Amino acid sequence: MTVPTDPKGRTQPGFDVHAFICGHERPEGATRPSCGHRGSMTLLKHMKASLRERSVKNVRIQKSGCLDHCEFGPMCVVYPQGTWYRLMGDEDLEKVLNHLEANQPQSGAFVRLTDS
Ligand code: FES
Repeated sequence: MTVPTDPKGRTQPGFDVHAFICGHERPEGATRPSCGHRGSMTLLKHMKASLRERSVKNVRIQKSGCLDHCEFGPMCVVYPQGTWYRLMGDEDLEKVLNHLEANQPQSGAFVRLTDS
């Protein structure tokens, strides 16, 4: 059986760390706020550029739909740890970037423990 290889030379799917940033936009007058109207996609572009500058490999940042914590947004969640970040300023962006680079939740993040 032949093992497939993608253009990046990978032979299996998966990332060491995977960040989702909410890009959801609600219509004007909606009862809940939305991260897309709070600049989340600009933050996402900035974070991708910063990761490239740091030469971090096997990490993915991508847009998500609503993560259902809208009032705290713009929201970001990082897996595999399931760590949540509010992206309220440069300090928060730096925390997420450090998490992605070190694969370690940073202080001040919201770490959700899995139900057991
Ligand atoms: S709109 Fe971003 S978490 Fe709901």
